[in-house]
Amino acid sequence: MVDQKLVTLKINEREVQVAPGTLVIEATRRMGIEVPSFCYYPGLSLQAACRMCLVEVEKAPKLQTACTLVAMEGMIVRTDTPQVHAARKGMLEFLLANHPLDCPVCDKGGECELQDMTFRYGADKSRFIEEKLHQPEEKWSEAVYYDAPRCILCFRCVRVCDEGMGVKALGVGQRGVNSVIIPNMQDHLDCEECGMCIDICPVGALTSGTYRYKTRPWEMTYAPTICTHCSNGCKVTLSVRNNEILRGNNRDLSGINGEFLCVKGRFGFDFTRHHERLRLPMIRRNGKLQATTWEEALGEISTRLAAIHKKHGPAMMGFIGSNRTSNEENYLFQRIARAAFGTNNIDHHRTADYAGLISALGDRAAAASATMEHIGQARAILLIGNDATNQNPLVAWQIRASIRHNTARLYLLNAEPLQLGRQAKMSVASGQGGEAGAVRWLATGAGDAPGELAALKEALTKESDLLILFGASITGAAIKDLVAFGSTLAGQTRYIALGDYSNSRGASDMGLLPDRLPGYASVSEKPGRNRYGQLWGAAIPSGKGMSAREMLAAAQTGKLKSLYVMGANPVKTFGFKDSKRPPGLEFVVVHELFMTETAQLADVVLPAASAYEKSGTVTNTAGEIQRLQHALDPSGARTDFDLLRILSHQLAKLGLGTAVNMRSPEALFDEISANVAGYDVALSTLISGGAALAAPHLAVDGASTAVAGAIFSSGDNLFTSGTLGRYFTMIPSLKEAEATP
Ligand code: SF4
Ligand code: SF4
Ligand code: SF4
Ligand code: FES
Repeated sequence: MVDQKLVTLKINEREVQVAPGTLVIEATRRMGIEVPSFCYYPGLSLQAACRMCLVEVEKAPKLQTACTLVAMEGMIVRTDTPQVHAARKGMLEFLLANHPLDCPVCDKGGECELQDMTFRYGADKSRFIEEKLHQPEEKWSEAVYYDAPRCILCFRCVRVCDEGMGVKALGVGQRGVNSVIIPNMQDHLDCEECGMCIDICPVGALTSGTYRYKTRPWEMTYAPTICTHCSNGCKVTLSVRNNEILRGNNRDLSGINGEFLCVKGRFGFDFTRHHERLRLPMIRRNGKLQATTWEEALGEISTRLAAIHKKHGPAMMGFIGSNRTSNEENYLFQRIARAAFGTNNIDHHRTADYAGLISALGDRAAAASATMEHIGQARAILLIGNDATNQNPLVAWQIRASIRHNTARLYLLNAEPLQLGRQAKMSVASGQGGEAGAVRWLATGAGDAPGELAALKEALTKESDLLILFGASITGAAIKDLVAFGSTLAGQTRYIALGDYSNSRGASDMGLLPDRLPGYASVSEKPGRNRYGQLWGAAIPSGKGMSAREMLAAAQTGKLKSLYVMGANPVKTFGFKDSKRPPGLEFVVVHELFMTETAQLADVVLPAASAYEKSGTVTNTAGEIQRLQHALDPSGARTDFDLLRILSHQLAKLGLGTAVNMRSPEALFDEISANVAGYDVALSTLISGGAALAAPHLAVDGASTAVAGAIFSSGDNLFTSGTLGRYFTMIPSLKEAEATP
């Protein structure tokens, strides 16, 4: 039966139905028919520059460009005729007229679209005997180089920088055969250095400062994993040779980010080989940290912690976890704190109030959670208290996509003006009461309302299906106000709390909180406590524990005797007086990649694997669970998962908790998905590279109990990544990175 809403046409004698407005090139792709293209790129404006996509259309006097031709009812298209082949061959001959044909040394050799097209459709000899135009290669920044003779002038780079990034750093100079791509600052770039232009270039005209001339694509192995730097969870494919990451990209367009990566996702991997990377366990002897064996280090940890537990009890022991370690590691960490030592003194640096949002939404939480895809499809977006361009680059990319494709309206409520303001329908300064005060006024009318806020409210109440994104300034009661306001709006209002790092959300979901077990079950609520108690073979304490800040303060006054830190730098984040270790703090353990301020104060330091050296899962700020895939061997370091598992065996021998017998993160994920509210997703979805939305639900009871000052952002920008970012090598060499504080 023919659906009246669809357009029916024939391509290569096969009938096909497509939605009205579909381009012929898209219709052919859906049928598995290749129509070659260079300038056409889905999601970007149409250019019709390269003429590679010419097809025959019955009754049309000459060949048509399939990338600009809209499918019409009854259209008859042929893509495989002698005339079409001759046209493709002719176009390639023109493109190659001035091309240097340096494929044997070009970075793109082996994965070049021009090479592939020439192989399939081109001539096997050239008729040109004239000297080729030559221009020297230009270095536009530490990240981006341009080789004009290789450029085929498809303008993908110009469009992705303008439309996708909203930066407009690239343009076209000269005319005709002399046309070249030019950077915005005469001979160099001043931009976000995202490398999107390099990635999207079909040939080797734009090359990457970190990868160029290092290897051939077939010499590398490829590991699709998740970027570790911000909370957005971009999928990144790491290209590896000899246990070194040489490149990061997402050219297969899989994952929640499509082709997008920001500067950190693309270039922020060299910390893995930094010369200061810890490779051996260390133990403090005679006041100094000295290299030791794993046996001695782990033995010292279990015996000293057991002794402190016996002497001072669980209330004087503290555990601070990470917002970059995997869900499995976070789950194990809090299990050891709670089940082996019987303490709820467990926390991490909280960068968004996820518990507050889930608790404010109650049983609407699953329906009202938005994903990264929702942002790209939204019609109206309210962004509160977050500089997404700097702090959440994929979110900003998706916001720009929704404006471009859906003419979405963007509303900003922020203390300072934002770069996204250029695209916003309305930008409102939050005023004296801050963003939380403004939200309070939106919900209740209480407090002072700056004039603009009333206009914002009026505009928002005319929207439906509003998507609300908010940063760390909106917590607890302010989230309740926001949800109360959102509930008065038409359609389905959706929310995302924006945190800082790759597993900020997962750390909360896995119960690295002093008052919440995994899945936000309250520690004071019997059913949840009993369930985890049975699972872990120990009674779970019921009193709320100390927050990270409280633990450090307690250590200062001698009320905390041991501190176990996994992948965090609380001494820097929360501070010790004079950065000195308080005398009453008897024992400090740190799992770390580098000798951080916290590691320097430790008694035992265990060298830990980075996110690129392990497998497991992480949950992005929107609640999308994705899989980390091990790309490198950690060369001396060990994963936190392994360290905690081994420790659980040693502690069990000392009568503390039960041993963890699961040998792989995958096995532990089964326990998580069977028990943690919202995580009952199939591992197979994740293994096949998909993202599954964690569906938080009623496990949260009552209000969020975040104490003042517990939730704050690190305020990273495009070029920084907390403590880890200090060990970037290439990114700090970018002049834009130098210019930012
Ligand atoms: S690196 Fe990014 S911001 Fe800079 S020119 Fe290329 S696309 Fe534009
Ligand atoms: S530099 Fe690459 S992407 Fe840009 S116009 Fe040239 S070939 Fe196209
Ligand atoms: S937006 Fe965030 S997750 Fe994506 S590449 Fe950048 S730092 Fe990584
Ligand atoms: S792809 Fe159609 S003209 Fe370039």
